[in-house]
Amino acid sequence: MASNTITETDVVAGRRPPGPSGLPVVGNLHRYLRGPLAFVESCAREYGDVVYTNVAGETYMVAHPDHVERVLVTDDHRFRKAELGQGRLEPIFGNGLVVSDGEYWRRQRTRMQPAFRPDRIAAYAEVMRRQAAATAERWVPGQTIQVDEEMRRLTLGILVQSLFGTDLGGREAEIREAFELVMGRFEGVNTWLPGWLPTPANRRFERGRERLDAIVYDLIDERRESAADRDDLLSTLLVAEDERGERMTDEAVRDEVVTLLAAGHDTTALALTYAWHLLGTHPDATDRLHAELEEVLDGATPTLADLSALEYTEAVVSEALRLYPPTHATAREATEDVAFGEYVVPGGSTIFLPQWILHRDGRWWDDPETFRPGRWLEERDRPEYAYFPFGGGPRHCIGHRFATVEARLVLATIASCWRLEPASSDLSIRPVITLRPTDPVEMVVHKR
Ligand code: HEM
Repeated sequence: MASNTITETDVVAGRRPPGPSGLPVVGNLHRYLRGPLAFVESCAREYGDVVYTNVAGETYMVAHPDHVERVLVTDDHRFRKAELGQGRLEPIFGNGLVVSDGEYWRRQRTRMQPAFRPDRIAAYAEVMRRQAAATAERWVPGQTIQVDEEMRRLTLGILVQSLFGTDLGGREAEIREAFELVMGRFEGVNTWLPGWLPTPANRRFERGRERLDAIVYDLIDERRESAADRDDLLSTLLVAEDERGERMTDEAVRDEVVTLLAAGHDTTALALTYAWHLLGTHPDATDRLHAELEEVLDGATPTLADLSALEYTEAVVSEALRLYPPTHATAREATEDVAFGEYVVPGGSTIFLPQWILHRDGRWWDDPETFRPGRWLEERDRPEYAYFPFGGGPRHCIGHRFATVEARLVLATIASCWRLEPASSDLSIRPVITLRPTDPVEMVVHKR
């Protein structure tokens, strides 16, 4: 490089992005905890696309699609998964894909990828369809359901059967129960308490984890014998090889299985919960969805083959993921100083890429706060990373296709026979690890 060439970093060296001044030590943590979404919204409004948020230390928010693309895709070698939050997840995920990094992560990702190829999704789609139909059959007209809870049960059931097959007998209920004990650790105030405190939630977590591990290791033992002949996810993982032809240890398989259970069911359940709430509060969109289902399905239950014709159903899912992205922000740690436009973010700091802000930014979205699935059927030029509910780059969600097929099949199957009416039009949400409703989301079901 010629000596008089000025690099982007030279120009801005030392210039810290603007942001709200905080208190000594805690920075803006108190403001964040009081109202996390309001805080990030005010940061974006007042300070722009690159903000020093100072939430417990060197934390930054980067909210322009081009910057998001750099962090996740083009310059991804300058960032790693943020430590923040990983520590909380490790006790359950072990060294599974969400938590692992570096060479180990790369080898595991290579081994796992075949389990999510389109031809595998076809086998899981049958499970999705049957379980959605079973949920729809359980409801009675006029019943008030907690749709968040119903969707969580459904998506966990789908994952358990996709992972372990349909001949689990009583163990399916045991897995669900153990897993629910484990997940309690990530709800409400428990999320913030250290794991070593002997709180009831932590004790339940330990009990759940021991039970879950015992069942998963038993299933691994059984499957080692017959894995090659079966098409469930666990069998696929057991025969998966890396580029050196090596298979995973039992412990690695355990970590990946539990990671898939945790990363895969709650996120999809939330996407469906928000889709039902949005449909319930927008009768025009519901009518249009029903009209499409009648026209395409003509009374039959939907299958994977129908999905390509169900364009509006897909648009409803995309729009729900835009307005209420279950992963409301993706975090990375900069491994060196990185310039974003006129500012520099120092190496070692944590960078948040907030889906919540980008998905509702008026520069990329007309009428951004409005639920309008039809926008997905219109042409509109916008930067690719104005929308990234599944992340991007090498670490994008491995279950992306699984989740979108599942959400569309569940929505189509249930909406073919039920109309869900919200018991209240209010929806209060809070970003914890995922973007969660603060209260049960009650809806009344009406037969169509
Ligand atoms: C609507 C549903 C879902 C959403 C919104 C979602 C979102 C995401 C996002 C944003 C990431 C990237 C995180 C990062 O870059 O730090 C991710 C990663 C991941 N997701 Fe999903 N996800 C969903 C469903 C699923 C499903 C169904 C599965 C599995 C069956 C799954 C498994 C994973 C795994 C294992 C990773 C880590 C990938 C890696 O780092 O290599 N997700 N997900």
